[in-house]
Amino acid sequence: MLISFEGLDGCGKSTQAHRLAQRLREQGYRVELFREPGATPLSESIRRLLLESATEITPLAELLLFNAARAQLVETALRPALESGAIVLCDRFDDSTTAYQGYGRGLPLEVVATCNRIATGGLKPAVTFFLDVPVELALRRSRGSDRLEQAGREFFERVRSGYWEIARQEPERVFCIDATRSPEEVHAHIWRTLQPRLPPLP
Ligand SMILES: Nc1ncnc2c1ncn2[C@@H]1O[C@H](COP(=O)(O)OP(=O)(O)OP(=O)(O)O)[C@@H](O)[C@H]1O
Ligand SMILES: [Mg+2]
Repeated sequence: MLISFEGLDGCGKSTQAHRLAQRLREQGYRVELFREPGATPLSESIRRLLLESATEITPLAELLLFNAARAQLVETALRPALESGAIVLCDRFDDSTTAYQGYGRGLPLEVVATCNRIATGGLKPAVTFFLDVPVELALRRSRGSDRLEQAGREFFERVRSGYWEIARQEPERVFCIDATRSPEEVHAHIWRTLQPRLPPLP
């Protein structure tokens, strides 16, 4: 079972992914936790290129780099983990690319969808938690400050509405969680949602 965590930078994805991993392990499940982009040597190199380098990267190049990292992650880590019967948690997955490169950067959504599908080989999360917070709060949590130039703010607003649209289109898979609450409350909501969908313990 593949479970992904989505939302703006600073919304609490990593916090909740770690909490859920711990909770599932306490219940006796075998859990593997990955982050995107990353989790394989190639994908970590691409992560550094994308997130740390000052090199200008066009939106299309960005789309392809995220998906190159994803292709490597899916084939060498996610599929083997899923085949071994583990519950696989992914801190960001294909919806991030749809929200950021599609809705945020404005690349055609069908181009993004095609590229994502090639990279994942059609693998989709069974359940996705979209941790929704206002842009201001996400920025405060991730940077310790709420200052951002208008262009940046508008970009993140588009990303957030993009996530809403994804959740609206796939209500069976994507659960919109109010992540402005405390980490405990957010975790409780995630757990309530996930519990009836979990496979039986091995
Ligand atoms: N529900 C919450 N309430 C208050 N603070 C929180 C909450 N969840 C996480 N935080 C804090 O906000 C910061 C960002 O959280 P976290 O790293 O989990 O977000 P993220 O979505 O993984 O961010 P990024 O996309 O940048 O990796 C951390 O300092 C974390 O401790
Ligand atoms: Mg994180």
